[in-house]
Amino acid sequence: MKVAETFAECRSLTEGSIGLVPTLGYLHEGHLDLMSRAKVGNDQVMASLFVNPLQFDEVADFDAYPRQFERDARLMKQAGVDILFAPSVEEMYPIEPVTRVVVGGLTESMEGAHRPGHFAGVATVVTKLLAGLQPDRAYFGKKDAQQLAMVIRLTVDLSLPVEIVPCSTIRESDGLALSSRNIRIPAGDRDRAARVSKGLFAAAELAASGERDGQVLERAALEYLIGIDVEYVALAERATAQRLATLDRPAFLATAVRIGGVRLIDNVWLEPNGTSDRGTLLRSTSILYEGVN
Ligand code: PAF
Repeated sequence: MKVAETFAECRSLTEGSIGLVPTLGYLHEGHLDLMSRAKVGNDQVMASLFVNPLQFDEVADFDAYPRQFERDARLMKQAGVDILFAPSVEEMYPIEPVTRVVVGGLTESMEGAHRPGHFAGVATVVTKLLAGLQPDRAYFGKKDAQQLAMVIRLTVDLSLPVEIVPCSTIRESDGLALSSRNIRIPAGDRDRAARVSKGLFAAAELAASGERDGQVLERAALEYLIGIDVEYVALAERATAQRLATLDRPAFLATAVRIGGVRLIDNVWLEPNGTSDRGTLLRSTSILYEGVN
């Protein structure tokens, strides 16, 4: 695996078709799954590792984000990554950027309403990665369903010649969706955290049995979240991330909660025929906890 710190160096290392996996680092099996998907569909896999200051709405969250370059580089190499792009902040933002990519409409609700500036920060850095690295495909997790909708839309609106490949959520064995933040959940709050996916799965079961009313599906998930600080539970159209009253088109049922001082998001993808994508459960303990007491 080659490590490049500049856009130009990274581009000079490419041969054939490129699959890009953008990351903030502190990798888990969700990222490794994106890399294995990229490995199958492209000549070379490129992964980026950049903790993007523009997308953190809370300075404390940016400071707390775990940075472990050696660990991440080792995992990327094992996953078959050919090129690791690890730019400095100065390479990514040589001067204070005054340009922001703002994707209207579908970034205003849910995450957008609770994290001001977050989506503009993500859209800006993703646009820079896609324009600067010129991958043929880029791989994003369905767990960040609203982010995924936004990225697909910005590539269409800006005519960026890249295919965005959505990949299923990977979950810990108790159902908790993998996130680098999971290591910060206090042990005593773990059972409460696992209720988040249980609620979403219960709603998916209801959809499978014929329920199409958005409010009924949202309430089914909320019943599992009693006593938890819930920011939202929402059924949304998948392409536009707009609230849906009825499950009559491809959708996701998403939630954001705060547990033990940690903000968690999760969702299930629902189809109008009642089928769903709830993700894949790990059988063993996640690599997130290796070396963590
Ligand atoms: O989903 C993430 O990890 C980040 O938002 C991304 C896409 C790497 C941009 O910094």
